[in-house]
Amino acid sequence: MTFMVKNYTPPQARDYAVRMLGTEYLDAVLDLEYLIFSTSWSKEQYAALIRGGRCVIFGVLGGEVLLAYAAAIISRAAKELEVCNIAVSLPLRRQGLGRSLMRAMFAAAEKLGLERAVLEVRSGNRAARGLYKKFGFTPCGLRRRYYVCPVEDAVLYEFRFTEASTGETGYGAC
Ligand SMILES: CC(C)(COP(=O)(O)OP(=O)(O)OC[C@H]1O[C@@H](n2cnc3c(N)ncnc32)[C@H](O)[C@@H]1OP(=O)(O)O)[C@@H](O)C(=O)NCCC(=O)NCCS
Repeated sequence: MTFMVKNYTPPQARDYAVRMLGTEYLDAVLDLEYLIFSTSWSKEQYAALIRGGRCVIFGVLGGEVLLAYAAAIISRAAKELEVCNIAVSLPLRRQGLGRSLMRAMFAAAEKLGLERAVLEVRSGNRAARGLYKKFGFTPCGLRRRYYVCPVEDAVLYEFRFTEASTGETGYGAC
């Protein structure tokens, strides 16, 4: 199995598959995470959360190559999904992969009967904020100078799952 992203010629959009990933894909997830983010979780942290049923990771695969992923923590007690990371390989951005991952996470959350999704994002991250807005997230707080490398405010967002949210005016329209 190959997980390299570097020097990869992307397949056509029809070749992509979105699926839930198990621990066997953690090396590929971390490769992508190291490429894209200035800080990262460890493999052990991810593995423990997945084994405990507290984390879901969805990936977009082109054959066996991981092109994008999204990770979320599930709190069944709080009925909440926390979107921790979503990342698309640079050459494949703005082609709907982020949207596909968000849809997969939302569908999983609804299947589990969760009521709310939350996340935080760098205030200057226009692409991510655009994606979250498109899915109906609304700002609900600010953590000043929360991020490092570089220092930046975090904007907190939330989304409430209701029957209407999946309809034509909710994220079902995304
Ligand atoms: C944020 C990110 C995941 C978006 O993924 P993507 O596959 O490029 O997004 P999509 O093509 O699915 O776009 C869906 C919607 O998001 C918004 N969006 C995506 N990129 C955008 C950009 N550069 N500027 C403004 N809005 C953007 C748009 O509303 C877009 O819908 P549209 O194309 O119909 O206008 C991607 O830019 C990325 O990996 N960024 C680096 C990692 C990161 O910052 N992750 C978020 C923090 S955890």
